[in-house]
Amino acid sequence: MKLTVVGGGSTYTPELVDGFARLRDTLPVSELVLVDPAADRLSLIGGLAERIFAKQGHPGRVVTTSDLDAGIDGADAVLLQLRVGGQAARNEDETWPLECGCVGQETTGAGGLAKALRTVPVVLDIAERVRRTNPDAWIIDFTNPVGIVTRALLSQGHKAVGLCNVAIGFQRRFAGLLGVAPEHVSLDHVGLNHLTWERAVRVDGEDKLPSLLASHVDELADSLKLPASVLLQLGVVPSYYLRYYYAHDEAVSELLSKPSRAAEVAAIEKQLLDLYADPSLCEKPALLEKRGGAYYSEAAVALASSLLNDTGDVQVVNTLNNGTLPFLPDDAVIEVPAVVGSDGCRPLPVATLEPLYAGLVSHVTAYEQLALEAALKGGSERVFEALLAHPLVGQISLAEELTGKLLAHNQAYLPWA
Ligand code: G6P
Ligand code: MN
Repeated sequence: MKLTVVGGGSTYTPELVDGFARLRDTLPVSELVLVDPAADRLSLIGGLAERIFAKQGHPGRVVTTSDLDAGIDGADAVLLQLRVGGQAARNEDETWPLECGCVGQETTGAGGLAKALRTVPVVLDIAERVRRTNPDAWIIDFTNPVGIVTRALLSQGHKAVGLCNVAIGFQRRFAGLLGVAPEHVSLDHVGLNHLTWERAVRVDGEDKLPSLLASHVDELADSLKLPASVLLQLGVVPSYYLRYYYAHDEAVSELLSKPSRAAEVAAIEKQLLDLYADPSLCEKPALLEKRGGAYYSEAAVALASSLLNDTGDVQVVNTLNNGTLPFLPDDAVIEVPAVVGSDGCRPLPVATLEPLYAGLVSHVTAYEQLALEAALKGGSERVFEALLAHPLVGQISLAEELTGKLLAHNQAYLPWA
């Protein structure tokens, strides 16, 4: 099985490689191709990837290349984990919205829109090349903002699935708290990428969420930075990203008071690259845990295995709504558990979404549709309309101001700006 990772020079890649090595019975990768324009990173990461495979006795070959077409040729699956503009562009996304009193975040709000506008054309170009050389290959998208990027891919008929580690993170965490193996835990995880709630945590069919909340609400609430009383009242566990909505002003003050996450990540990446350069390092270093990608490799291996081995098991994915949430358009992309096999993803039925969540999901879905139109067609009016539709923006003067800043900060990436 040949697997290609576009953005393979990412400092995250050793996490992925470690997963491929450990989980080779689930997903036997015979050739792993790391594609990246940054040749220096690629040789460092490629070297470490080879050492991780060798140490764990993995027979697969690691290939590195900056030639995208060569890298995707013959691949069974292509994983997208690229970041257009790198951490420097992310730093901008996280900074200029704050000047308007808005949240500065890489996927949520105006910063996330900027990332979508930079990313969608690049991802669609890659997907076209994949389709041309390998019409049967699956595209697994980790590239943020995953909801919009996956919607872009599916709108053009690509064989694509979007993936995020929020659901698997909760599954592992709840399994740990309950003292059971993660595969026994299934979630009623519903919403859009980075806009989800856990409504049930089932172990052998029984919902353990009420008892989990009763015994662990303080630690859960602390890590989400949300009030424990509200988690208890609602009886759900929102994803960390809901804080940008439910505690927007508090989040903005906090973001204003410290360096951006991009700056933190850039410092971690520098240290990681130094570690990766050491030829005696043959495993992913503990420092990688300071990044947000926990269990990313497990999620990727499980999804690739379902798609390529036609397992028909359940994975939480980003895929077409197609009536699953009846109040959304069929072509919206939602994040829910789905049966996954070689013919793609079929969402499991979802219990009626309560108005408290359905309202926000509808609102953000409309924004995502307008964001995708702006990314596909360009134009400052479309950017303005997407921002006006965003629940965290909404006001004309704010949307105008943010549009101006977004375009000014992204001219190098947006030919129409
Ligand atoms: C989580 C999210 C990812 C995001 C990452 C950021 O894993 O699900 O979508 O990219 O966090 O982590 P970072 O270390 O880059 O801040
Ligand atoms: Mn994510």
